[in-house]
Amino acid sequence: MSTEQAETRTFAPPEELVAQANVGPEVYDEAAADRLAFWEKAARRLDWAQEWDTVLDWNDPPFAKWFVGGKLNVAYNCVDRHVEAGHGEQVAYHWEGEPGDTRAITYAELKDEVCRAANALVELGVQAGDRVAIYMPMIPETVISMLACARIGAVHMVVFGGFSADALASRLDDSGAVLVITSDGGYRRGAPSALKPAVDDAVGRSPGVRNVVVVKRTEQDVEWTEGRDLWWDDVVERQSTEHTPEAFDAEHPLYIMYTSGTTAKPKGILHTTGGYLTQVAYTHWATFDLKPDTDVYWTAADVGWVTGHSYIVYGALANRATSVMYEGTPETPHRGRWWEIVQKYGVTILYTAPTVIRTFMKWGEDVPAGFDLSSLRVLGSVGEPINPEAWLWYHEHIGGGRCPIVDTWWQTETGAHMITPLPGVTTLVPGSAQTPFPGISAKVVDDEGNELADDSTGLLVLTEPWPSMLRTIWGDDDRYVDTYWSRFGTNVYFAGDGAKKDADGNIWLLGRVDDVMNVSGHRISTTEVESSLVGHPAVAEAAVVGASDPTTGQGIVAFVILRESGTDSGDELVQTLRNHVARDIGPIAKPRQIMVVQELPKTRSGKIMRRLLRDIAENRELGDVTTLTDSSVMNLIKEKLPAAPSED
Ligand code: WT7
Repeated sequence: MSTEQAETRTFAPPEELVAQANVGPEVYDEAAADRLAFWEKAARRLDWAQEWDTVLDWNDPPFAKWFVGGKLNVAYNCVDRHVEAGHGEQVAYHWEGEPGDTRAITYAELKDEVCRAANALVELGVQAGDRVAIYMPMIPETVISMLACARIGAVHMVVFGGFSADALASRLDDSGAVLVITSDGGYRRGAPSALKPAVDDAVGRSPGVRNVVVVKRTEQDVEWTEGRDLWWDDVVERQSTEHTPEAFDAEHPLYIMYTSGTTAKPKGILHTTGGYLTQVAYTHWATFDLKPDTDVYWTAADVGWVTGHSYIVYGALANRATSVMYEGTPETPHRGRWWEIVQKYGVTILYTAPTVIRTFMKWGEDVPAGFDLSSLRVLGSVGEPINPEAWLWYHEHIGGGRCPIVDTWWQTETGAHMITPLPGVTTLVPGSAQTPFPGISAKVVDDEGNELADDSTGLLVLTEPWPSMLRTIWGDDDRYVDTYWSRFGTNVYFAGDGAKKDADGNIWLLGRVDDVMNVSGHRISTTEVESSLVGHPAVAEAAVVGASDPTTGQGIVAFVILRESGTDSGDELVQTLRNHVARDIGPIAKPRQIMVVQELPKTRSGKIMRRLLRDIAENRELGDVTTLTDSSVMNLIKEKLPAAPSED
């Protein structure tokens, strides 16, 4: 559906939300009048051991310091203070395992568990500033581990459980992790999946890792390295539930999250303490209109991504939310599993990704119609542009036509929501993220950095620092400056997204403008997949593009030239190469389609013309080929085009 069509239908906020929402239209004026005072007020929603003396230090851009001189403990803010305020019996997480086992964890229980884990980390010699890797399924111990690190000032580095041993090893190495917390595995698609073998492989190459702490989740046998490996139950459960949280500097590192960039080496995005917690807590409260006493909140994402960090863990807990946390996949054991969970726990706020919504659309509206979804009141979307068709389906078949949808644009780097409607304020335009959050300055500019008039297309930039911004790329300040703050000078953050402002000033996000693909809301670098492919002995050269895909947003399509022309280039080799990439990076990076070709289209300067490859992958008429060295290359490639993409 075109944006033009969608713009014809808008949705005013429901009346009771206008009357009762946590924030109303005045927040925009307040923030516009004094941006720093606005964020300062947001920071006061937290409990500080020591107040800051300067809200923002931006004297050395792009290196920002927020709430300078302030001190706080993140775990105390997320857990202890709620218990001290008398909410110890409130459920923090309704955890639901895929096989159907459940656990309700109250704030008081969470506090005990976090203190035990913190004491265990201290016993294992982990100190403030040390990096701790967490490679886990979606189980409560994952959250407990993150909070335990935050509590003692250790820097966690969560690696999504779907990543390979190689991906884990490079992250352990780059971050300099001293400890890994993992589990024997988790449940996915009705069966236990293993995690420990990848850890054994990766840690074998990471001499800096002293210990591996293993949570028992499944009944799988695991290999054991005496002296290095420890069962969580042995090392954590016997600890005291008393632990005094130390207040850390507002700029103390909180975590590193690796994300793909335009080179093969992932970037360790560094987030710090005070500004990050301020903005995740405030946005969670305002964007979702979170009411801690009555809402049941569900971010249906994995904790291994930034969405999970900010809105399953830190934002949700800082606001004393009762959250749902689900271990498994949406179709296990049946396609109504999510809706069964919404019905069972009375979920009121649901936050998920367009790719999942499109999958549900494919399965048909009869599935959600079989469940009582009347508890829902606010819906959220994140990870990629939500096409108006999916928006309208979500609105009608999940939200019963009554729930506002907040389409939240942000990034691993931004830490928290940056552009989003507010449910009690904004008249919604399906498909557009619409408005910069109060206190955020976003613009659409041309290639020279000039702000564009409304109704034109350009690049998205952020023109003022914000509290939850990344502080650097771990160990690589130069790359931090080059990647984000050099295109338009050190004061302007280049997001890497194309954007359009419509005639009403609504911002439409148009996808990445760099060599980064967005597959099911996951960021994958074309270069990373290419270097994996050329790492296979059969491949001489590879070019990878993201081709639009009806379900996953983009699908990975690779073009490869083989080393020896005689090599069997049939289905078997294609499968081998696809599996090779999945093993190298992780199943999310497995190409949807691989085409074996004789040549790749290159410009006279030798640059691969991805635009043309994308045209082919999307079965479009070819664009301009005049700068090609040899335009017959394209005909060659076209002949090789298989009829349909190979699917698993
Ligand atoms: C990239 C960031 C933010 C957590 C999940 C992804 C795309 C994200 C939206 C949205 C259009 C979106 C952008 C962005 N993106 N949200 N609501 N509308 N595009 O985090 O892996 O850091 O990816 O995801 O392209 O740059 P990430």
